Amino acid sequence: MKIFNTINELRNELSEQRANGKKIGFVPTMGYLHEGHASLLKAARKDNDIVVLSIFVNPTQFGPNEDLSSYPRDFERDEKVAQNSGVDYIFYPNVEEMYPSKLKSKLQVINGVNVLCGEKRPGHFDGVALVVTKLFNIVQPHNVYFGLKDAQQVAVIEGLIEDYNIPVTLNKVPIVREEDGLAKSSRNVYLSEQERAEAPTIFKSLQNAKALIDAGERNSVKIEEEIKRILEEKTSGEVDYVNVYSYPELNEITEIKGTIIIAIALKFTKARLIDNIILTIS
Ligand code: PAJ
Repeated sequence: MKIFNTINELRNELSEQRANGKKIGFVPTMGYLHEGHASLLKAARKDNDIVVLSIFVNPTQFGPNEDLSSYPRDFERDEKVAQNSGVDYIFYPNVEEMYPSKLKSKLQVINGVNVLCGEKRPGHFDGVALVVTKLFNIVQPHNVYFGLKDAQQVAVIEGLIEDYNIPVTLNKVPIVREEDGLAKSSRNVYLSEQERAEAPTIFKSLQNAKALIDAGERNSVKIEEEIKRILEEKTSGEVDYVNVYSYPELNEITEIKGTIIIAIALKFTKARLIDNIILTIS
C-alpha cells in the first residue's frame, strides 16, 4: 500500500497503471474509517485491479457553524483499516493541495437540494459536488463507490455524473449497521453514553414505518408523524427532519408508491445523525 500526499505523484502512478490496462476503483472518504467505509472498499476490491482510497476532510462542504474543526481524525488507524481492506493507494492531501488558490468558478447543485440535508445544510452539496469532481478528475477511476447511508449525496453524484458526462460507473453500497441497528458513522463517537443507548431508536422507527407500509399504510404524513412521535418519546435528540420522498428524485409525495425514501436527521448534543431506508412499493 502506498500513500500519496500530492496530486502529481498520484497521477503519475495511476497513469502508468491505466496504460497497463488496469481497472481503477475509487472510494472517496473523510477518514475515521469504520465498517461502512470498509464495505465500500471491499466492493471496490472485488471489481477492480487497483483500489484508491481518498481521505480528505473537505472544508467546502461544512457550514460556518458545523463540525469541521472537531471532525474526528486518526490517520494511523485509517491506514490499518485500509491495509486490511486491500487498498493499493491512499490519497491523503492537505487543504492547500486541494484548494491552492481562490476558486475561479462555481459548481452549484440545483436538483433535489431544497430538501433534507440540502435544506438544513445550505451549500453542503455544492461543496460535495466540487470536491468529488476534483477527486474524479485527479483519480480518473473506472468505478466509484458511494454508500446509501448518504442517499441524497448518491442522488447528487448521480446527477453530477450525468450532467458533466463524467466517464465513471457509480456503484451504490447498502448501509452497514451496528448490531443494534445504528448506522455506522464517524460521528457516532461523539454520542454520550445515554445518547448511544437511545440512537438505535432511529433505525427502529424506520423499521416500524416499513411495517406500517407493509400493512397497507400509504399516507406519507402519517408515516412521518409516527416516526417523529417515536423519536421524541424515546430519545433526547432533536428531530431535524423526518421525510418521505420519491427516490432518487426527492420530490414530495402524499401517497406512498413506487420507490421512496424515508429519511431522518436527529440532532444529539455533539452529533447530528442521519439514516434512511429506501423501499419499492408495487
Ligand atoms: P464520509 O462521511 O467519510 O463517507 C464516505 C463514504 O462512506 C460515503 O459514500 C458514505 O455514504 C459511505 N458510508 C458512511 N457510512 C456508511 C455506512 N454506515 N454504510 C455504508 N456506507 C457508508 O461522504 C463523505 O465522506 C463525503 O461527503 C465525501 C463523499 C468523501 C466528499 O467529501
